[in-house]
Amino acid sequence: MAKTYKIATIPGDGIGVDITDAAIQVLKKLSDASGSFQFEFTNFDWSSKTYKERGYYIPEDGIEQLKKFDAIYFGAVGWPDVPDHISLWGLMLPLRNSLCQYVNVRPTRIIPGTSSPLANCKPGDLDWVIIRENSEGEYAGHGGETHTYYDNAVATDVSIYTQVGIERIMRFAFETAKSRPRKKLTMVTKSNAQRHGMVLWDRIFNYIKKEFPEVETDKMLVDAMTVRMVLQPSSMDTIVATNLHADILSDLAAALSGSIGIAPSSNLDPTRKNPSMFEPIHGSAPDIAGKGIANPVGAFWSAAEMVEWIGEKDAAAKLMKAIETVTEAGVKTKDLGGSKNTKEVTDAICAEIGK
Ligand code: NAI
Ligand code: MG
Repeated sequence: MAKTYKIATIPGDGIGVDITDAAIQVLKKLSDASGSFQFEFTNFDWSSKTYKERGYYIPEDGIEQLKKFDAIYFGAVGWPDVPDHISLWGLMLPLRNSLCQYVNVRPTRIIPGTSSPLANCKPGDLDWVIIRENSEGEYAGHGGETHTYYDNAVATDVSIYTQVGIERIMRFAFETAKSRPRKKLTMVTKSNAQRHGMVLWDRIFNYIKKEFPEVETDKMLVDAMTVRMVLQPSSMDTIVATNLHADILSDLAAALSGSIGIAPSSNLDPTRKNPSMFEPIHGSAPDIAGKGIANPVGAFWSAAEMVEWIGEKDAAAKLMKAIETVTEAGVKTKDLGGSKNTKEVTDAICAEIGK
């Protein structure tokens, strides 16, 4: 009997819908090819469109429904007729927070057949994993606005950092670094200006690193980090940073590796008490939505991360290999300098899996 994995899909808005459809097609092909497991997909129509109709993104029992699944596959949320802070705080952040997905893993590398916008940066020169703290910092939701009606509005976003939160992300980052060939971890903060929370990050980093003597470490201020990413990409391997810093750095990382359309992310609950959630890092891309031209590679790479997380390592490797074979053959969307559309790339990868 083939093992069945229950996957919740939340396509969301814009190209989130196109790339989720493409990911489901590829995942079905992958399970057919394997024969030893299958996926049972359940679609959740939680989007900015349903928000406008109903007044909420997630229904009251929505989180409880999701807890029954082995994993969640997410497209993107955000549409021009709903303010971005409403969509982000209405759908994405409540999912990450209530499912205890406190780690966000964002690998980046130059995949075959693509190139970096950096001159002289070859595949292999840029191979990073960014570990983003996924539950605290500016995204904890602490803050507010007052005096709005007196022409002297005051607004605060308070960054929250806890010892528990920092320790658990540091340990995860060290474990990740230890599992990779170079065993190298760079910690990013802004502990010159942010003199409380970021200094706590520094302090915790210094005592956790004693537990991992085999990992080589260094630390950077976030502004200097942007320079190093551009000028010395091969000097880094695993990177750990706060929710906001890593959000920004991972967009830069994706662009340096060729396109934001290829970059995956995993929102993990490492305790495995709750399902983890997998999504490309890009947004809903209203400028290209509905045109069928979105690059599905980030969606497929995210799907491969999901397949690995649920325990099907061979199938995950097979999917990554199929993606890379197809990009190497030049079957690419426009953002990667190619001329194919979403369907053509998807079909090519399905055909590769079937070989
Ligand atoms: P975006 O990532 O949607 O788009 C930025 C640029 O990259 C656009 O020019 C877009 O066409 C291009 N792009 C993105 N993904 C692509 C792909 N797969 N293939 C080809 N080109 C691609 O970011 P933007 O424009 O800042 O945000 C649009 C909406 O998405 C906003 O409402 C924002 O809040 C939301 N958003 C949602 C995220 C999520 O659900 N995780 C993440 C980032 C933004
Ligand atoms: Mg982002």
